[in-house]
Amino acid sequence: TRVLVLNGPNLARLGVREPDVYGHTSYDGLVEAAAGWGGALGFEVEVRQTDDEAEIVAWLHEAVDTRSHVVINPAAFTHYSYALRDAAAQVTHGGLRLIEVHISNPYAREEFRHRSVVGAVATGTIAGFGVGSYRLALEALRELVGDGAD
Ligand code: DQA
Repeated sequence: TRVLVLNGPNLARLGVREPDVYGHTSYDGLVEAAAGWGGALGFEVEVRQTDDEAEIVAWLHEAVDTRSHVVINPAAFTHYSYALRDAAAQVTHGGLRLIEVHISNPYAREEFRHRSVVGAVATGTIAGFGVGSYRLALEALRELVGDGAD
């Protein structure tokens, strides 16, 4: 079972970027941790990051075409990208799972972070557990897809 773990803008700055909000784990540390957690759960995991909306939209199309489930931290795109939302909808409407994750708890932060335009088309959302949000998302995915081949 393939899983794409996709990260949006500024997440390559993890560890350096506002560590009081996002913690001290670096992006490389996140990649290693997510790949390890996914592998232990029996997933074939690929972890990617981009600051480019077109690229993350293309990756969601790729998920549909390769029958891959998705764990996605859309970062700031969460709050305003209808293009990302429409691409995410193709994943979940295509019978695949897409779990939205956030490192911080957006509801405890600025007003503009309280709205996700992605949430309504996601399978579910996990937020506020630091990089552990990715582990919880992968565990949820394991439970949802069972031990089947897809
Ligand atoms: C974030 C929360 C977003 O509001 C913010 O724009 C990010 C990261 C998180 O993981 O907590 O870049 O998605």
